Amino acid sequence: MLAGKRILLIIGGGIAAYKCLDLIRRLRERGVAVTPVMTRAAEQFVTPLSVSALAGEEVHRDLFDLTKEAEMGHIQLSRVADLVLVAPATADLMAKMAQGLAGDLATTLLMATDTPVMIVPAMNVRMWQHPATRRNLAVLKGDGVSVVGPDEGDMACGEYGPGRLSEVPDILAAVERLFATGPLAGKRVLVTSGPTHEPIDPVRYIANRSSGAQGTAIARALVRLGAQVVFVTGPAEVAPPEGVILHRVESARQMLEAVQAALPVDAAIFAAAVADWRMADQSTSKIKKVAGALPTLRFAENPDILASVARMEAGRPALVVGFAAETDDVVANATAKRKRKGCDWIVANDVRPETGIMGGAENAVVLITEAGAETWPRMDKGAVAERLAARLAEALV
Ligand code: C5P
Repeated sequence: MLAGKRILLIIGGGIAAYKCLDLIRRLRERGVAVTPVMTRAAEQFVTPLSVSALAGEEVHRDLFDLTKEAEMGHIQLSRVADLVLVAPATADLMAKMAQGLAGDLATTLLMATDTPVMIVPAMNVRMWQHPATRRNLAVLKGDGVSVVGPDEGDMACGEYGPGRLSEVPDILAAVERLFATGPLAGKRVLVTSGPTHEPIDPVRYIANRSSGAQGTAIARALVRLGAQVVFVTGPAEVAPPEGVILHRVESARQMLEAVQAALPVDAAIFAAAVADWRMADQSTSKIKKVAGALPTLRFAENPDILASVARMEAGRPALVVGFAAETDDVVANATAKRKRKGCDWIVANDVRPETGIMGGAENAVVLITEAGAETWPRMDKGAVAERLAARLAEALV
């Protein structure tokens, strides 16, 4: 699967850099050409001679190298690869990437590239858990960077915890997944997921019981089939899937904005449980409790995100899928909803409390298309996601 690919391997300066030697060997065994780049700090941990001997190519180290500028240029170097792999990605490199700094060859290449970027972080556990690294990680994920690891375990510094460079076979598996040529390779799919929170005042909000489990499972299934997934999620209970372009939002209006920014896409799946109403007049300060006086909440209607995309005149996704959580007359209501919203498919489910579906592990859905209603057996949300992703792949070819 990897044969014939070219990887630009950026080696950061951490003790785990020595594992890159094995990584380079294993990549080359699989027919991958490796162009190595080392930061100055990396050279303190492994020698450029060992790296270049194993890669079978010269190590690139300098941003201002006149001969190379004449030959190829650093911009070119970043573009000829199929993947830019940063291993180990140190806290410093991650911070520079998140901020867009470009003060040396490695960071300049990362800024100049238009190919996918994957980082394999490795650092001391405290550095990994530091709020600054947490922030940088979120920024990088939002920029579409794939992240492998880190693993948890004993560290070279004598501490224990998350921060170890992932094992080489795990890095290889992640790279293979990235190059997977599934039926949705080359397709961009938008998925909305989770609840929205509608603020009443700075401390209170209105929410719903959506856990985000079904939307997350769908995004994961689409990634497995090779799609590029833009995942717009409200404050969900479950962690977002890996390998997606992640946008976290709170309110329906923020979700609409993130959805519009994600367009154009080939398909859009609206699994989020968007609040129908928000406060008409959100208080900027906390509403005070006054004995004997009850506050009155006035509502305003939220934008219908699904309908706004389904009814687009120009640039509408080829397939727009909505969800319908119903408690009565599931098929009739969902069929009417498909028409009303202008979407192609509706995935309808019965969310009466006794079904245990909302927030539970299983789902029982009816897929409503132009051809009619198709009842699927009750199954795990992961299985529903896989079946839906497979149907979407059939429909998009
Ligand atoms: O109208 P109802 O909320 O039942 O419609 C559910 C479908 O519409 C879901 O796919 C949901 O994600 C989407 N929706 C939306 N924006 C709203 C309300 C619902 O995208 N404001």
